[in-house]
Amino acid sequence: MKLLEERILKDGTVLGKDVLKVDNFLNHQIDPVLMQELGNAFADYFADRNITKILTVETSGIAPAVFAGLALGVPVVFARKHKSLTLTDNLYCASVYSFTKNTTNEIAISKNFLSSEDHVLLIDDFLANGQAATGLIDICQQAEASIAGIGIVIEKSFQRGRQELEAQGFDILSLARIRAFENGIVQFVEEEGS
Ligand code: G4P
Ligand code: NA
Ligand code: NA
Repeated sequence: MKLLEERILKDGTVLGKDVLKVDNFLNHQIDPVLMQELGNAFADYFADRNITKILTVETSGIAPAVFAGLALGVPVVFARKHKSLTLTDNLYCASVYSFTKNTTNEIAISKNFLSSEDHVLLIDDFLANGQAATGLIDICQQAEASIAGIGIVIEKSFQRGRQELEAQGFDILSLARIRAFENGIVQFVEEEGS
């Protein structure tokens, strides 16, 4: 998506070897106009898939997921990473390992908000190693919900996430695909026909 690529080139900073900082429109300050465009792009691509619900993980997946939900007319559920006062049992849980931080976190969704009737679109801000998506897939399987596809804002194509999820047969739409960071400059995957 041209608009997103331009924004990444304008406002993104490459940190070290493999991290992109996008704090001024996605991960800290949020640009609602851009988020709505991203949400609409997910909704257009997955429009005919009979999606009943969008699933994401707090925190940074929520903004694009909400705009996709608005456009598709379906509710959005975010998996929680932290223990909640009011959400204590009746949960689907999965462990998410972070290669970046070398930590494992539990994510949880209330059984009230996901069922075997649901056909789910998974959305997240970044796809790196695919651990967050794998946790959401695990939770969908526990609920016997089916998965329509995966929408990602920024994919780092040089990490293993896409490959592993595609190998499991998932349809992935990534709005920006980063091939590499070369001398601190973001290089995008050249898409056919674009
Ligand atoms: P994975 O799910 O693809 O395996 O990701 P990984 O463990 O490598 O990353 C852990 C966290 O870092 C996730 O966010 C993920 O979205 C984010 N992340 C991964 N690569 C990048 C990057 O290049 N830039 C930025 N800005 N984030 C990246 P999180 O901890 O769940 O954060 P949040 O959603 O609460 O903001
Ligand atoms: Na993040
Ligand atoms: Na995230």
